[in-house]
This record gives sequence, structure tokens and C-alpha cells, in this order.
Amino acid sequence: MKYTSSTTAVPDAPAVPRHVAIIMDGNGRWATKRFLPRVAGHVKGVEAVRTVVEACARRGVEYLTVFAFSSENWRRPEEEVSLLMRLFVTALEREVSKLHANNIRLKVVGDLSRFDAKLQGMIASAERKTAANTRMTLTVCANYGGRWDIMQAVGKMVATHPGAADFTEEQLAPHLAMAYAPEPDLFIRTGGEQRISNFLLWQLAYTELFFTDAYWPDFSSEHLDAAIASYQHRERRFGRTGDQLAEKTS
Ligand code: IPE
Ligand code: IPE
Ligand code: MG
Repeated sequence: MKYTSSTTAVPDAPAVPRHVAIIMDGNGRWATKRFLPRVAGHVKGVEAVRTVVEACARRGVEYLTVFAFSSENWRRPEEEVSLLMRLFVTALEREVSKLHANNIRLKVVGDLSRFDAKLQGMIASAERKTAANTRMTLTVCANYGGRWDIMQAVGKMVATHPGAADFTEEQLAPHLAMAYAPEPDLFIRTGGEQRISNFLLWQLAYTELFFTDAYWPDFSSEHLDAAIASYQHRERRFGRTGDQLAEKTS
């Protein structure tokens, strides 16, 4: 496959984003607002994932990527971390066959070595089971960090080109954790914060960013449509001028 990226060639700007990447934030605040424990927000958050997976597949999105647990989330209280891990296990147990029945491929990316053996085994078998599915690819980023991703890719790149001193983007990109997907067209962050929090640092170079105050458990297909509508009004210039774009389309 020929390597293309938003910085080496001007990519297509499809009307429906091919790849949507989401920071699902605000579970804790959603729960706190209701005098519930934070974990209730995470439980409700899993339901929102289900809704959005379905809505994206219906709209013809090819890749949906969700940030479930960052490399920095280990800093949270032990109790919350272990609850999140248990939720991950239950979600896999309950959802994988549904994903499979809907022809959706599941990928889990991040430094999985820190998860316990049972969870790692479940992830591997879920990926194997859904590997040949073609309708949409759902990527769950777990113990993922954008800097981790770049560093692990650099390590592999250097190992494949022993003795080399200069490297190109083309040599690095195949080693990134999500090398199988095009760069995200649309990034959504719920929960009101306007930051990247070490998500896909490399891949977001030319992604359109959309922020909403809605907490993740409240995120619905209407919110998704609002994000896609906003995306459709953007002029994706990839470094060129607006006049150049107008010439191309006239
Ligand atoms: C996002 O919701 C889920 C994870 C990071 C696992 P939060 O748990 O960060 O919710 P807030 O930001 O505290 O409200
Ligand atoms: C980002 O949310 C990570 C995930 C949604 C998994 P955080 O809640 O951890 O982000 P910060 O700490 O507010 O930047
Ligand atoms: Mg948060």
C-alpha cells in the first residue's frame, strides 16, 4: 500500500468523515451531578459507546476510534482504575458478539502489557473473532498515549533500519499503532475541556476538531449529527489557500 498522509499529499475530504476519533470525557461529572458514584458515569458511558457505534455504522463512517483509558489515567484512585478494568472485561464479554453480528471489526490499541493476563487474552480473542469484518472498524484506545505511540514506533523504525541516521515520515508511519487506518477526519471531545490529553498526537495533524459541553453519558446520535454537520461546513485547506480550493471545485 502506498503511504499517504495529510502532510505528504493532499488527502480527500469526504462529506461523511471516514474516520471519527472521540475523547469520551465527563463520565465522572455526569455522575457527581446526580449524586451518584463516579463509576455510575462509566457504566452509563459504555451505553453511549454502543449508541455511537451504531450511529456511526449507519452513517457510513468507516473507522470509529474511542479513547477509553489513557496512559495517565493510572494516576486515578486505585478503586476507580480497577472498576474501569472490570467494566472493560464486562463490556468485552457482552458486546463482542454483537459487534461481530453487525460486521464490525474490533481493534484495541495501546500498551496492553500492563493489563492482566485475562484481559489481554480476551482482547486478543475479540480481535481475532472480528478480524475479517468489513462494515466499520471500532478502535478502543486503552492504556494509550500519543507520546507512547510515537516512541514505540520510533523504536521499531530504528530496529528495522539498523545504522540509518536519517528517517522519513514514510518510514515511521507503518509502525504507529493505528497504521491500518487513515488519519481521523473528525475529532470530538465531550465534557467541555478543549485539549488533546495525549490522544492521537501524530494522527491529528489535519483533523477537524469539535468540542461539546455534553457529558459523554449524554452523548447521542443527535450530538454526533451536530458534530458531522459542523465538520461539513469546514474548509479543509491542508495548507493551501481558499482560492485554490474554489478553483478546484468550480
Ligand atoms: C472519561 O470520563 C472516562 C475516562 C477517562 C476513563 P472522566 O472519568 O474523565 O470524567 P470527568 O472528566 O472526571 O467528569
Ligand atoms: C482523557 O480524559 C482520557 C480519556 C477520555 C480516556 P481525562 O479526563 O483523563 O483528561 P484530562 O485529565 O482532563 O486532561
Ligand atoms: Mg475527564
